[in-house]
Amino acid sequence: MNAINPGLELRDYRMPPDEVPETIVETLSIEERDELKARVKKLLKKQDPVLVAHYYTDADLQLLADETGGYVSDSLDMARFGHESPASTLVVCGVRFMGETAKILNPEKRILMPDLAADCSLDIGCPIDGFSKFCDQHPDRTVVVYANTSAAVKARADWMVTSGSAVDVINSLRDQGKKIIWAPDKYLGQYVQEKTGADMLIWQGACVVHEEFKGVELELLRREHPQAKVLVHPESPASVIKQADVVSSTTGIIKAAMELDAREFIVATDKGIFHKMQEMAPDKVFIEAPTAGISATCKSCAHCPWMAMNTLRKLVHVLETGSNEIQVNPETGRRAKIAIQRLLDFTRSKGPSVLAGDA
Ligand code: 13P
Ligand code: SF4
Repeated sequence: MNAINPGLELRDYRMPPDEVPETIVETLSIEERDELKARVKKLLKKQDPVLVAHYYTDADLQLLADETGGYVSDSLDMARFGHESPASTLVVCGVRFMGETAKILNPEKRILMPDLAADCSLDIGCPIDGFSKFCDQHPDRTVVVYANTSAAVKARADWMVTSGSAVDVINSLRDQGKKIIWAPDKYLGQYVQEKTGADMLIWQGACVVHEEFKGVELELLRREHPQAKVLVHPESPASVIKQADVVSSTTGIIKAAMELDAREFIVATDKGIFHKMQEMAPDKVFIEAPTAGISATCKSCAHCPWMAMNTLRKLVHVLETGSNEIQVNPETGRRAKIAIQRLLDFTRSKGPSVLAGDA
């Protein structure tokens, strides 16, 4: 029995810990780093690719994107930038659903990724066959899926949303009297349900990184830093979300760090974001939210194993060889684009405030 939706049989789609890959961060000397970065810049000058990177990727990849006319952002804005860029090749540094979204929106463009094995536990935990069957059992419901899903799942959906847009979209659907199927993140779904009061059937997936943040240990850390504001990504468990000063997308978390009148911040999201936070708010202090209970050990320790697969060496290889091109079945892509385009049109009509987060 599903606790969130009594009467509904839904199995647990969270990834077993022993199937989560280890987070391996590339170790390079300063000389190796400088040499690889110089090669990337040279290769980008010779060809026309544009780098689009997520905030969780290696700091050098983010710096390269910023310094070469590319873009660093959250999943919604990465999609928007890629769509509006005139470049015929995009190199997406992030996880596969981000590359697929770029391809779906721009079938004529070449989309390359440093590593095609860069997956996401939410995507893995929402296989199309089971999800499609679930949707078929509830034909009266509007199907809303998070960006962190495969092209096939998006093709089965009416709407795609991101963490920065979910509350606004569900509020609007609730106002139209719609009942919702939500997938795949159960924590984000629960948060959105509480914020909107919408009637939502919630798929039981989770992000292996955010699920590790611990409520009790966060309470103890807050006691040590009573002045600190708590910034939380909504893929985190409810016990963590309920202690937040701001619950928001990655972009919203960075904006909050810049704008809030506090010096210290406890941050519950992937630690890759600290690079941009420190760059945008250099005088502030950022503290990692706890990922493990007393004497327990975390698996990813607040760094996504798949985001870490985006390395400088692999980026050079892809730019030199043109390998690792993302392919999406054209018919699947055509149907998935409808759900994605709905979100882009919705967020455009609401203006940029939607990017400031949900809290
Ligand atoms: P954002 O859209 O907030 O960047 O989140 C993407 C993601 O994968 C978070 O884990
Ligand atoms: Fe997926 Fe979590 Fe990694 Fe984001 S941090 S890409 S949700 S596994």
